[in-house]
Amino acid sequence: MARVLVVGSGLAGLLAAVRATDTGHRVTLVTKAALPESNTRYAQGGIAAALFPDDSVDAHILDTLRAGAGLCDPAAVQVLCSEGPARVRDLIRFGVDFDRDESGITRGLEAAHSRSRVLHAGGDATGAAIEAALVATVRERANRAHALGGDQITIHEHSMLVDLVVHDGRVTGATLLESGGARPTVTVDAVILATGGAGALYTHTTNPAIATGDGVAAAWRAGAAVADVEFYQFHPTALAVPGTPLVSEAVRGEGAVLLSSTGERFMTAIHPDAELAPRDIVARSIAAQMKAQGGAPVMLDATGLGRELLEGRFPTITAACRDAGLDWAVEAIPVAPAAHYWMGGVATDAWGRTSLPGLYAVGEVARTGAHGANRLASNSLLEAAVFADRAVRALGEPEQQAPRFGDEAATAGYPSGTDLDDELAYELDSARKTIATGVSVDRGALQQLLWEAAGVHRSGAGLTRAAVTLAGWRAADRDTASVAELETGNLLDLGRLIVAAALAREESRGAHHRADFPDSRPELARPHVTRRRDLKSR
Ligand code: SIN
Repeated sequence: MARVLVVGSGLAGLLAAVRATDTGHRVTLVTKAALPESNTRYAQGGIAAALFPDDSVDAHILDTLRAGAGLCDPAAVQVLCSEGPARVRDLIRFGVDFDRDESGITRGLEAAHSRSRVLHAGGDATGAAIEAALVATVRERANRAHALGGDQITIHEHSMLVDLVVHDGRVTGATLLESGGARPTVTVDAVILATGGAGALYTHTTNPAIATGDGVAAAWRAGAAVADVEFYQFHPTALAVPGTPLVSEAVRGEGAVLLSSTGERFMTAIHPDAELAPRDIVARSIAAQMKAQGGAPVMLDATGLGRELLEGRFPTITAACRDAGLDWAVEAIPVAPAAHYWMGGVATDAWGRTSLPGLYAVGEVARTGAHGANRLASNSLLEAAVFADRAVRALGEPEQQAPRFGDEAATAGYPSGTDLDDELAYELDSARKTIATGVSVDRGALQQLLWEAAGVHRSGAGLTRAAVTLAGWRAADRDTASVAELETGNLLDLGRLIVAAALAREESRGAHHRADFPDSRPELARPHVTRRRDLKSR
């Protein structure tokens, strides 16, 4: 049985920890904040799965592939949609109480789903319900192990991943920064990264502040292949008030409509599915509408749904509106796009295995290929559950050769495949040259730069200017940096990666939209894989 380090405590990390203890592995679970704090906790809409008689795995697969805009890995999508229902039943067994009515579990409709298949809990508090159930399960196991004098699972809160430890090409552990300032090195047989996304890269995000991409940055520094990092999903409707709380797509699924500042419904002229068009299209259309009206947010009119439905089905959003002094039962509310979910990340196969032996990645930190260029709504919690389970199953397999990414098969014929690496090499080179004189990176300035240059709308000129600016910024010394400085350093590494990847992808596809290349190019419907090439130089 293996010694396993699980990093992160959202759905993916908690489920991996539970599954690993179930199968007899010894688990050390570390998380940067308190155990329940994670992106999962803020998920509203729910978890999509083909569980209802009028639905099918094939229909879910088709919807996922369509939303993914030609970039999904069909094998990953097949795994996601076919194993999804079993993983949702597992969650129910772990105590997640999905909402029900007299006929059974209720379900919502979200954009680009051909069927209502989104399970929810607590109305719009699905993530919080899942997080609470799994935190209770993990704590109960840790307490039981402790009471029996064992250490089958130990939990370390307020403990940040600094870097992965690699020996002879194999990940053998990680260095951590604990709240008291200690920097222990944990040595294990396998590391499972479940550190989530990097919404903190952008000025406006629905993510909590802890979403600083620590796992992707550490994996990249360790030499793991990362893929499709240019694809960052912007949720169309965050409440346009400080903190940008999410306003679930399920609200539009129930019939709410988007209005311009003059009260016109504008999505009907843009897409046959209007407000329920794929997420990237709605987000871009809102951004364009905002530009046309001088930057003012658009309005989401949910008044037609009635107070009873709004307050019963969406208590979290009702509270967020109330905190902002809004009563959405009687008035339209201001909404705008915000960074929400990263489709790119550490490249994995369908078993969560990365290009580095001993390193697994599950949940938003991973790029499994299940989401392609644009994730289908409510497929993220599902992906976390499905691939966390599979990664733990893979731990039990005899050691195999790590999968290869970005090699012959993945990038054959990809004209920009080499451009990406050249671009990245150029940037790293520039960064190295300016590191002695470069200015310390400021997180707010970094977020603003990414928002403007690598946000909903992009252009080659804007991305090039951003790359040059990023090359002149330097991060704090990782050996002595505080948690906040380490996070900002991670964001700087990731900002450079995203800008370089967005520059290299000379087309528009899904969430990546370039004004200078407004169309998709069929020959580019392939993953973008890159890895750090200058391991010795940093
Ligand atoms: C939402 O509730 O709109 C978010 C669901 C998701 O991001 O999948």
